[in-house]
Order: sequence, then C-alpha cells, then structure tokens
Amino acid sequence: MTAWSIESINWSRFDKNLVDPVLVRLVKAAALVEYNGATYTDYLCNVFAGDADFQAKAKVWGREEVQHGQALAEWAKLADPDFDFQHAFDRFTSGYSVPVDVEASVRGSRSGELIARCMVETGTSSFYTAMSKASKEPVLAEIAHLIAADEFRHYKLFYDTLKSYLLKEQIGRLGRAKAAVSRIRELADDELAYAYYASNVPESVPYDRTACSNAYLGRIYPHYDPEIIRRSNAMILKAVGLTPHGRLNSMLTAGAYRFVSYRAHQLAEAA
Ligand SMILES: [Fe+2]
Ligand SMILES: [Fe+2]
Repeated sequence: MTAWSIESINWSRFDKNLVDPVLVRLVKAAALVEYNGATYTDYLCNVFAGDADFQAKAKVWGREEVQHGQALAEWAKLADPDFDFQHAFDRFTSGYSVPVDVEASVRGSRSGELIARCMVETGTSSFYTAMSKASKEPVLAEIAHLIAADEFRHYKLFYDTLKSYLLKEQIGRLGRAKAAVSRIRELADDELAYAYYASNVPESVPYDRTACSNAYLGRIYPHYDPEIIRRSNAMILKAVGLTPHGRLNSMLTAGAYRFVSYRAHQLAEAA
C-alpha cells in the first residue's frame, strides 16, 4: 500500500494565489477517472479469476487509485469552492461506464490486459509528472508527485505480472506491440473526454467528445518535456519486449516530442 494518505498531505501550504486555472480543469477531470478506479478492480478480478495472488494486489491497486481521486478532489475544492465533486462524479458515471461483468479480458488474453494496464500506468505517471513540474501551487505539486510515484509502482506491478503470464501465454513482440498500440490509441477515448465534460462543462451544453478531448490534451501537452517522453517510451518499449534505452527510444522521443509540441500549438490556436 502507498506510504501516504489524504491526512499526511501538508494542506496548510495551499496558496490560492499560485493556483493555475488551467490545471484546475485538468485536476477536476482526473479526479473523476481516478475515483472510478474501484470499477476497474472488479473488472480485473473477473479477468484474473482463479489468480488469488494477483486479485489481492489488484484490490490494493484499486484502493490507491481511489485515493488519488480523493486527493485531487480535495485540492480541486480548495482551488474552486464551488466545485461539487459528488455531482460531477454522478454525471460522469451516468454517462460513462466500464463493462465489468466479463469472463475474459477485452484485450484477448491476460497478457494483453496487463500490457494495456502498463500503457495506462505509463500515461498516468507521465501526466502527473508533468502536472507536478507545471504546478507552482505547492500542494498540487506535492499531490501530483506522490501520485506519479504510485503510478510508476503500478506499472511495475503489472509489468512483473506480465512477465509471469508471458511464460504461459507465449505472445510474441508483434502481439504485444498491437496490444500496446491499441490501448495508446484509446488515449482520446470517451473516458478522459467525458470526465472533462462532466467536471468542467455545464450540463446545458451538449457533449462534444472531440472538443472535450482536445481541451483536455491541449492543457497538458505543453507540459510534456523530452525527459518525460523518453521515460514513457522506455516503459512502453519494455512492456513490448524491446530495448528500453536504445536508438529506437531516441527516435521515438524525437518524433513524439515534435508531435506533442505541434499538437499543443495547434490546440492552443484552436482554443
Ligand atoms: Fe492513479
Ligand atoms: Fe495507477
């Protein structure tokens, strides 16, 4: 279990004058997705039926994700006292749901599921690292730093489990790469976009997935630096079974940094 709690955060350091309204919007949306982590625990326990050891670890993991949501929600309420987290969460879960009642992974195999989970933790660890670096407000910087450390540890949990499942399931690099790419392409899927909508856009405005997705990504992309991208690429390559810190990573990092910078500029202009 994580070494921190909501109570151990030094809330007295909160400084309203240093709050960045752009980050507030991201924090509100992220709080909803994280707090919904308990749903994924049920899904993982169904997918890994019979693996009591991993199910126990998945339950701890789920509690940590919920704590991420609680910490972010508490901070968002300090930054914006009008923020009604429970109402936003109810909006989110009434419009977006995860199919929990499954007997097998939607990724085709347990290894595929674990690779997808590695991609999610890669995404969240880089997101919170970027947020921690971007926040001048000290409490948010602290929370994002703590969460990022958890997300790196979550990656390790799924990666270590993946290694043991690959011995049984024999999925080659191509199959692993396909599982990784399909999950990365879902980055702009409904979950983040709908969370942004439920926490930032009035209910009277109809949901526009592309607009909400662009609003979310456009606010975090400017904070991704080459160091964050390089580490993310190493995590992706490792999960796929390729050398994490080689020339391929350098090429991918250069390309991804150009893409992220271009998209950040493009989305800022559109906004
Ligand atoms: Fe999380
Ligand atoms: Fe996580």
